[in-house]
Amino acid sequence: MNHKTTYILAIESSCDDTSAAVLANDKVLSNVVANQEIHRKYGGVVPELASRAHQQNIVPVVHQALAQANIDKKALSAIAFTRGPGLMGSLLVGTSFAKSMSMGLEIPLIEVNHMQAHILVHFIKDENQKTPTFPFLAMTISGGHTQIVLVKDFLEMEILGQTLDDAVGEAFDKSAKLLGLPYPGGPLIDKLAKKGNPRAYPFPKPKVDGLNFSFSGLKTSILYYIQKQTKANPNFLEENLEDVCASIQYTILEILMEKLEKAVNQTGIKQVAIGGGVAANSGIRNRLAAAEHEKGWQTYIPKFEFCTDNAAMIGIVGYLKYLQKNFSAKNVVAKARYVIGE
Ligand code: KG4
Ligand code: ZN
Repeated sequence: MNHKTTYILAIESSCDDTSAAVLANDKVLSNVVANQEIHRKYGGVVPELASRAHQQNIVPVVHQALAQANIDKKALSAIAFTRGPGLMGSLLVGTSFAKSMSMGLEIPLIEVNHMQAHILVHFIKDENQKTPTFPFLAMTISGGHTQIVLVKDFLEMEILGQTLDDAVGEAFDKSAKLLGLPYPGGPLIDKLAKKGNPRAYPFPKPKVDGLNFSFSGLKTSILYYIQKQTKANPNFLEENLEDVCASIQYTILEILMEKLEKAVNQTGIKQVAIGGGVAANSGIRNRLAAAEHEKGWQTYIPKFEFCTDNAAMIGIVGYLKYLQKNFSAKNVVAKARYVIGE
């Protein structure tokens, strides 16, 4: 038996977080994330600024990840990086850096699909976390995606349903913008919703076939609702912000849980995992945890720090691919549109 430890350096730069992590086999030794504050004043991610900030951040972030893990770069077994999907200018920074470093150190390069990583994050070793067995269902909910995925094996996945327009994270962020809250609004809606009445304002749920989602209509109905209420009472939002947030979050969670339930009924699979930035939402975490006794599901909720974009999730996929010797060519290029299973 080979007891040699595999050390993976992982790099994530698909959107507006620059992150590097070091894993020893399936254990995370360090996971450094540099958030880019610059986008706040624009109310959303500005791709060109994201790319520039990645360029500034990547060297110090990688340094810090290696230092925190107490690992010399010469001890690394391979470099894993996010190849896509994401913003091209952002992906290019991580991809070029990973390629150069793997060439310099003469170690394998491993490309990772960001959406697969949001799912396989559940295989990071942690005594306090359960690990799903195959097959299981995964709902990936982030700022760019909303998917229900049938996970047959580590790298064998099938998309059963997805959003036809906005992603659920966008629904949170765009709703927050309508309420005058700064970007990213998802965490703020979550915080304010805790103090509000979720049934104060019933927003309509879209009717979408199968396991697909739609979130663009919700934003419009919130806009009209606020306009109408503000006309009658100019202080409506200030006076009712917590109830409005709770009602928006409740509607979004209802939409997600309904589709998840449909997916369970259709497939007969009761192991349900979530991943992606919106999996950090306290409401969805509670709803999923409650489904264990309410619906008899086995549910898997990532640790908070592994929900939003991070390199540790890229590292675990890197490790799993390393075991299969599933390496990338040195001339691999970033892929802005990169669908699971393609
Ligand atoms: O996975 P992620 O970090 O980046 C993408 O791959 O898109 O997800 C970011 C998204 C943002 O839309 C953000 O508002 C949302 O996740 N988000 C939340 C919460 N924390 C992050 N949405 C609702 N509640 C939260 N607590
Ligand atoms: Zn993500």
